[in-house]
Amino acid sequence: MGAADGTVAAWGVANFRSEVVRPEVLTGVSDARRLCQSRSDETHRPEETGVMSGQERRGLFITLEGVEGCGKSTQARLLVEHLDARGIEVVLTREPGGTDLGERLREILLDIGQTGMRAETELFLYLASRAEHVAEVIVPALKRGAVVISDRFGDASVAYQGGGRGLGADLVRPLNETATSGVKPDVSFLLDLDAEEGLGRLDGRIQDGGSRASRDRIESEAIEFHRMVRQAYLDEAAREPERFVVLDARSRVEELARTIALRVDDLLAERAGTYPGDD
Ligand SMILES: Nc1ncnc2c1ncn2[C@@H]1O[C@H](COP(=O)(O)OP(=O)(O)OP(=O)(O)O)[C@@H](O)[C@H]1O
Ligand SMILES: [Mg+2]
Repeated sequence: MGAADGTVAAWGVANFRSEVVRPEVLTGVSDARRLCQSRSDETHRPEETGVMSGQERRGLFITLEGVEGCGKSTQARLLVEHLDARGIEVVLTREPGGTDLGERLREILLDIGQTGMRAETELFLYLASRAEHVAEVIVPALKRGAVVISDRFGDASVAYQGGGRGLGADLVRPLNETATSGVKPDVSFLLDLDAEEGLGRLDGRIQDGGSRASRDRIESEAIEFHRMVRQAYLDEAAREPERFVVLDARSRVEELARTIALRVDDLLAERAGTYPGDD
């Protein structure tokens, strides 16, 4: 379906239509130039990499993380609306996926019929999707000075393959480094939720005949898997407290959106304030 629709065709995934915004400019840029000129006074500073020097990285990179059904896509959408209303250039994207190749890998990864996949195979497929995503979508947007919002990113591999599959965070982290060329989010919002509750929300949506017809391959894993994912996320957040903002995902949607928007506005204001000639 939707082959004639650029949005759907670009992603190669029909049922994501209601959630997706194409990974490109959504609005005209007003003050994006002012937002990201200097990063010299930041406490959290992604390392310089082969794909993008610190100076070239003018945009803001935001990720949303958490267990199934915790509210990532809901909050991503609301944050896009918030930034859009401010006239800021924003790119909404997701993992696995975000590129044509990534979306094909996503189909394999989430295909319930793909039984018996080795944990290592799964990890490398996620990493392959991420490598494309960083090079094709995230880095170009950050160089332009856009705000990039990714619905899941590298922490998801630490949590799902490192924690859930038991490969270990120490194994996954350096592979993530390679896949991303060291590009890290400026801020990661972890929507922390009990695994049962998250899956319950998901099943509610499926029963309501919402955007989902059934659980995908990862969602179908045993509850213990999802509990380990949640714990691995929390461990990662404790390890990098300056990057993570941990939120109680049981809070009201609007309240979460307000907290996220305030933090993002603060980050943008910090940058605007460092731009020479700013008043
Ligand atoms: N704060 C909240 N409180 C209660 N329900 C919520 C909240 N946020 C989202 N929901 C509901 O929970 C369900 C899952 O939300 P959403 O799709 O945003 O989560 P997600 O993290 O993107 O899920 P997935 O992991 O499946 O992509 C939806 O039906 C949504 O309306
Ligand atoms: Mg989602």
